[in-house]
Amino acid sequence: MDGPVLPSRSPAETRRIGARLGRLLEPGDVLLLQGELGSGKTMLTQGIGQGLAVEEPVKSSSYVLLNEYHGRLTLYHADLYRLEEPAQVAELALEEVAEPGVLAVEWPERAWEELPPEHLLVRIEEAGLRERRLTFVPRGERYEQLAQRMAARRRGGRKAADG
Ligand SMILES: Nc1ncnc2c1ncn2[C@@H]1O[C@H](COP(=O)(O)OP(=O)(O)OP(=O)(O)O)[C@@H](O)[C@H]1O
Ligand SMILES: [Mg+2]
Repeated sequence: MDGPVLPSRSPAETRRIGARLGRLLEPGDVLLLQGELGSGKTMLTQGIGQGLAVEEPVKSSSYVLLNEYHGRLTLYHADLYRLEEPAQVAELALEEVAEPGVLAVEWPERAWEELPPEHLLVRIEEAGLRERRLTFVPRGERYEQLAQRMAARRRGGRKAADG
């Protein structure tokens, strides 16, 4: 079951969507970012960092499994692209490490079974050179709420027309 879909027409728009998501995050939140190479997972994470008031630049970290950025909450950014075995993720103890902050994971499909079952999955699909579709797929009550808030156009805004 999918959730709300947001279109993005540019890298800047993906960043803005990320920033809006970042502002809504709470300690312990887990975001799984799925999409092809170059779809915009890191761009979205940069926006999330911005929304969390992280000052350092969030970088693409394919050679490092886990990076940490300090903001309103600490952003733990994992990139599992280079992961050789899912068991390596267990060693990282991502959920425990990130618990006081926020965890964002690129390439979660490398280790689904090792990642928290309750999460917000963001699927990014290319829909043209500069167009993307971001689908928010919540797993768990907290994330259903978060997905609904992302679907609402304005802050404190109206409900989606067809719930
Ligand atoms: N609407 C858009 N949203 C996000 N990125 C876009 C968009 N349109 C074009 N792009 C381009 O797509 C690329 C996205 O790169 P990014 O590093 O974020 O991808 P990624 O999903 O993290 O890739 P990887 O799997 O290699 O980590 C950038 O070069 C960006 O400029
Ligand atoms: Mg990336």
